[in-house]
Amino acid sequence: MERSAARWWQDAVIYQVYPRSFADSNGDGHGDLPGLIERLDHLRWLGVDALWLTPVFPSPNRDWGYDVSDYLSIHEDFGTLEDSDRLVAEASARGMRVIYDLVPNHTSDRHPWFLDACTGRDASHRDWYVWADPRPDGSLPNNWTSVAGGPAWTLHEPTGQYYLHNFLPSQPDLNWWNPDVGDAFEDILTFWFERGIAGFRIDVAHGLVKDRELRDNPLPGEDDPEPFHRRGQVPVYNMNRPETHEIFRRWRRLADASDRVLIGETWVLQVGRMLSYYGTAGDELHLPLNFPFVLAELSSEALAAIVDEVERGLPEGSWPVWFGSNHDISRFPTRWCRNDEDRVRCALMMLLTLRGTPILYYGDEIGQIDVPVPDDRIRDTMGMPGSINYPGRDPSRTPMQWEPRLGAGFTAPEVEPWLPYGDVARINVADQRRDAASVLNLTRDLIALRRARTELRRGGYERLEAPAGVWLYRRGVDTVIALNLSSRSADVRVGDARVLLSTRRDRDGERCARSLTLRAHEGVVLGCER
Ligand code: GLC
Repeated sequence: MERSAARWWQDAVIYQVYPRSFADSNGDGHGDLPGLIERLDHLRWLGVDALWLTPVFPSPNRDWGYDVSDYLSIHEDFGTLEDSDRLVAEASARGMRVIYDLVPNHTSDRHPWFLDACTGRDASHRDWYVWADPRPDGSLPNNWTSVAGGPAWTLHEPTGQYYLHNFLPSQPDLNWWNPDVGDAFEDILTFWFERGIAGFRIDVAHGLVKDRELRDNPLPGEDDPEPFHRRGQVPVYNMNRPETHEIFRRWRRLADASDRVLIGETWVLQVGRMLSYYGTAGDELHLPLNFPFVLAELSSEALAAIVDEVERGLPEGSWPVWFGSNHDISRFPTRWCRNDEDRVRCALMMLLTLRGTPILYYGDEIGQIDVPVPDDRIRDTMGMPGSINYPGRDPSRTPMQWEPRLGAGFTAPEVEPWLPYGDVARINVADQRRDAASVLNLTRDLIALRRARTELRRGGYERLEAPAGVWLYRRGVDTVIALNLSSRSADVRVGDARVLLSTRRDRDGERCARSLTLRAHEGVVLGCER
């Protein structure tokens, strides 16, 4: 089944850049926008269509940009507003769009709104944040815990009230019941849309609105509405409130008016709840990120079941999105694949052949693995020794491994980068570009095949019967993907077909009649012949 009139983001491969670790142009050990611009030719060669940058706005960096102190400017570490405009223009000249990252759940405690809110109970921005009185006995307003550990409330002594922070105390939550907050963010969206930004990834999208009565969260029970209770409670009242959907309906209209995309960090563990962020009428987020998928094991049973659930439950006209890594979790080559290259190749084939928009995280294309970061070099405030999130998220945020030399091609050889880089002699872009059978060239060829073969982009998804451990699916009519995600070889019935692309590259072009034997952790894309 072919679908017509696809929007650009349905046909796109999106590439997530963590700008601080991508390319350092001025030798300060931190990546920046001019550095990224210099590397755009690599991304064009790779074939990606859009870049999503984690936050580049001014920030005191208690949470590395996810604590914004000015939504309408660029952090000096990354460059200037002119560099941002130049990035958009240079990317566009190479056929790529730029997506930014919006943090509407909270600001930095240094944002002028919060500074004003702290000046008194009648300050004009007071009600832009969530304030509550202590309980009569002087204790915390309710039992909510923060993702960073400890209570989600901090007392602001001069005014005698607590303010809410679902993350660090330096990240006060905004009050989305106040329409002024909504208006301010619509202005922010419009500002960047007018500067050519092609859309936003929305941070903590599921968490914007809080229960108006600030009721206590329930403790984990038998029939949790949301099984995410790492902090000893179920986030029923400080997240996932129904009123959040109305915000996205408004933003969707704003985005659709100029063909922009809204990607949501919908960090929920139930597929059904994730799907709710498309809107029942498909009128909310274009691409709510699928955490149940990314947090499942790399097994045909676990992942295919989630894909089936998504395919069954998607609202009419809505579109799936798939990713394996990001800046908050272990990279998929380590998490899913235990640093095993054959598995990495299978995972890339899966991400780039499922129905939906794939998002690659920088370094996924070369199979970059997590880098252990010594305690004294940890930069993730939430992951410091002694914290509940130790050892934190730095292992998946280390510099891009461009070249097998000191500095990794990320920064000058004599510079100490902000985070240590990994084994660049083993995994790097330069060597892999020269090797036709490398992970990098597999990724590039998969993207090219996707572009050349309409069925891989627009064709329907149908799961086919297969032996245990094998995930077999058809895209459209004549394209079949066979992924053996098990450690044993397997015979798969495929009909008459030709191998268009094989994960290990030694079977490309092979013809098969009726069946095919896949080695352990091997995948193929087949063109059926009739
Ligand atoms: C999101 C971001 C993460 C950040 C958190 C708080 O989960 O992806 O990096 O720490 O929000 O802003």
